[in-house]
Amino acid sequence: PVASVLERGGVKIARDDVVRDEPTNNIPDTIFTKLGQQLHRRSQHPIGILKNAIHNYFDSNYENKFDKFDDLCPIVTVKQNFDDVLVPADHVSRSYNDTYYIDPQTVLRCHTSAHQAELLSKGYTQFLVTGDVYRRDSIDSTHYPVFHQMEGVRVFSPNDWESSGQDGTAYAAEDLKEMFGRIGTPLICTLELLGAVEMRWIDTYFPFTDPSFELEIYFQEKWLEVLGCGVTEQEILKRSGNSNNVAWAFGLGLERLAMVLFDIPDIRLFWTTDERFTSQFSEGQLGVKFKPFSKFPPCYKDMSFWINESFTENNLCEVIRGIAGDLVEEVCLIDNFTNKKGMTSHCYRVAYRSMERSLTDEEINELQWKVREQVESKLNVVLR
Ligand code: PHE
Repeated sequence: PVASVLERGGVKIARDDVVRDEPTNNIPDTIFTKLGQQLHRRSQHPIGILKNAIHNYFDSNYENKFDKFDDLCPIVTVKQNFDDVLVPADHVSRSYNDTYYIDPQTVLRCHTSAHQAELLSKGYTQFLVTGDVYRRDSIDSTHYPVFHQMEGVRVFSPNDWESSGQDGTAYAAEDLKEMFGRIGTPLICTLELLGAVEMRWIDTYFPFTDPSFELEIYFQEKWLEVLGCGVTEQEILKRSGNSNNVAWAFGLGLERLAMVLFDIPDIRLFWTTDERFTSQFSEGQLGVKFKPFSKFPPCYKDMSFWINESFTENNLCEVIRGIAGDLVEEVCLIDNFTNKKGMTSHCYRVAYRSMERSLTDEEINELQWKVREQVESKLNVVLR
């Protein structure tokens, strides 16, 4: 095949490598077209507005400025994305079910932590990295296979903590909490970003931090993770020439925060080019409430099939999105049983809804028809 090199927003990629139908590559067109769009670098887009607001917040609260990166290529090596941040060899996030692979050594980054080790090795000690990240996932109003994260890292040297009488880890953990005392709450309350939104901290595990915490916010009747953070594993610092230092790191999900701040009801809206959406936001205007143009009715279609061992919900969602694109709003397992012969049946409810217009019955029936066809042929399940 003739390799054509495409460039999108500074991202160079050999098109044939991406679309060729090989088991080592699992990147569909719906994802390919997102490369290089860089919503986070558009100053009039909610994601760009939020990024700039957080940059300003850091600039005005820290004497030593944070270095800012928002143009690092989302195509990274497996080493950068996983090995360098100590993700174990058998961790689920490395699977083809969870991550988009270009080839066995190259992925679309699944988190901005993919750039931590390299920037630390280059000698940066305070930095923010914003970028698009990619994860195979299920479909609903708060999950989309492409979203944006901001990574923050701050390194301390012995001078910083020695006079405090604490050890480095305790000092960094306290600085982190203190920072989120100001940022998590004020980035949110002082700047009135989140108003009265409920939040909670949870102890958690990340391979690259210890201790590790997660911040969740209450939105649309669910607790949503918006941020992970912790004290950087010493091994990462050691490998980057920071043996004597300690650091904290965080990774903040921008869409979910933006949904709350701007009252954006569905994560697909970030990708629409409909002017009724884009014209509602302007540079520097944080937290302007989005006025829905009108709520179009959803249409539900159920589909039952016998699954096989290789069936995964992420694969199902990829097939459906491949056909319906952003017209699919939610895919939800509504029934699940195993018969006496040990065969398992799943019933999924697919919600179709356009953010922009009313869909016709014909249109939806045609979509659903194609979905059924491809679910059967691509996933090797048996429709009931
Ligand atoms: N990379 C983590 C994620 O994507 C977030 C994180 C970043 C956690 C830095 C701790 C430190 O979920």
